Amino acid sequence: MTELAQVNILETDLNVLPTREGAIVVFATPDGKLDQGARKVSTLMKKTVARVVESDRFEKAKIGDVLTIAFPVGMAASKVLVAKLGRRPSVEEARKTGASIAKARGTDDVLILGGATSRLADVAYGCALRGYTFTPHKTADEDGVGAIDVMANAPADVQAASDVMMAVAEGVVFTRDLTNEPANVLTTTEFANRLQDMENIGLTVEVLEEDELEKLGMGSLLCVGLGSASPSKVVVMQWNGGGDEAPFALVGKGVVFDTGGISLKPAGGMEDMTMDMGGAGVVSGVMKTLALRKAKANVVGLVGLVENMPSDRATRPGDVVTSMKGDTIEVINTDAEGRLVLADVLWYAQERFKPTGVINLATLTGAIIVGLGHENAGAFSNDDTLCNKFLKAAGAEGEGAWRMPMGAAYDAKIKSRIADMKNVGGRDAGSITAAQFLQRFVKDDMPWMHLDIAGVASVKAETALAPAGATGWGVMALNRLIADVYEAKDS
Ligand code: BES
Ligand code: MN
Ligand code: ZN
Repeated sequence: MTELAQVNILETDLNVLPTREGAIVVFATPDGKLDQGARKVSTLMKKTVARVVESDRFEKAKIGDVLTIAFPVGMAASKVLVAKLGRRPSVEEARKTGASIAKARGTDDVLILGGATSRLADVAYGCALRGYTFTPHKTADEDGVGAIDVMANAPADVQAASDVMMAVAEGVVFTRDLTNEPANVLTTTEFANRLQDMENIGLTVEVLEEDELEKLGMGSLLCVGLGSASPSKVVVMQWNGGGDEAPFALVGKGVVFDTGGISLKPAGGMEDMTMDMGGAGVVSGVMKTLALRKAKANVVGLVGLVENMPSDRATRPGDVVTSMKGDTIEVINTDAEGRLVLADVLWYAQERFKPTGVINLATLTGAIIVGLGHENAGAFSNDDTLCNKFLKAAGAEGEGAWRMPMGAAYDAKIKSRIADMKNVGGRDAGSITAAQFLQRFVKDDMPWMHLDIAGVASVKAETALAPAGATGWGVMALNRLIADVYEAKDS
């Protein structure tokens, strides 16, 4: 488990500055004003900060950028970072500044001279999240990342905000670690064990094994894992921080590796399918955050953990399986396996928990990447209210999502000649026919949304708050949705 940088919120004490080692961050407003801390540092450095702020480079820098002064004269610090930021930044600006600080400081300890600037907790949060690296399989001794100290004029307020945000960051990092982990390490069993460990933080965790899944009639989910030596599992995580109301349900696709099965994928890029459990990873990260921040809501997270492998026991194209709901499915393409997993977990979630709503997340289709690239997840929903609330939460957290259409004409594409439906609808509108398939396992009046995160769960280029690789996309948005909509309004 990757350790996040430690965040310490301190009272402002400018006397430590001359002898303080590591990186020191000072703020300069876009019109070049230095606060008290920045002026003190500038004085110690024979006015270098003032010179930086008057320079062309500062003028050209964007809000949230930092300029680095290495080996500053008159100080013990390794570098002084001049951050261009207004006194009342937006959340996005504050987090971007934190991300810039993370990149500029490397692994050095950092002291952020926050003074009276607002949203300092967001600066620290951006710094902690962007400082994430996935190193468990690097053998060289890597120094862990240094602490983030923030000096603030109102430390108690910053501390309170930071405590909540760091609970979210822990969830994001949990998701990233799961999603980055290779499939020989993160088997279905290892995944279930890591979730079981969250009993320590107050979640109720159950692991349903294959014999129980068979008794429940999950023929659709089980057919995906038949070719694998790793057993299929469903893990149920419950957080009951609310009253006695019905829970909200989160459901995740947890294909620990997707070879395509007998409908084998091409070799090029197949290694990326180690992230095909990204939906389950997000559900797990959200559950972790809710527990760490003791959310006043009832939420249940369910993940279907399987491995899609070809073998003599694997499901064949043309096979017909029976879902827990009772509907039969003709498996035309064994590479359209995520929907087969979700069908049964969605049904089980509704039957057992009678939730007030369901959101499922899945790296479901390559087609959503063709449509939306890596900037937005595809959002599909039968409920405008739920969907709009989610899109609003995602927007506030800077996590892109774009609503896609659904409808009967798309549903007609998955009619089967010999069974109740088939698992693919042809090349056209591949992400939408996948969503139509899922909707067949959603009860009529159940508010539901499907998030196709194939393009956003793991990316090749860095994003605002993450290096290349797993992003943890969705943890922040879902946490905010639950906080805004489902938590007790009196707090
Ligand atoms: N896991 C893949 C989708 C995917 C593709 C995720 C690229 C992340 C990056 C999914 O199981 C899959 O194989 N979908 C097929 C569906 C097709 C057979 C109808 C696809 O998108 O090609
Ligand atoms: Mn597949
Ligand atoms: Zn898949």
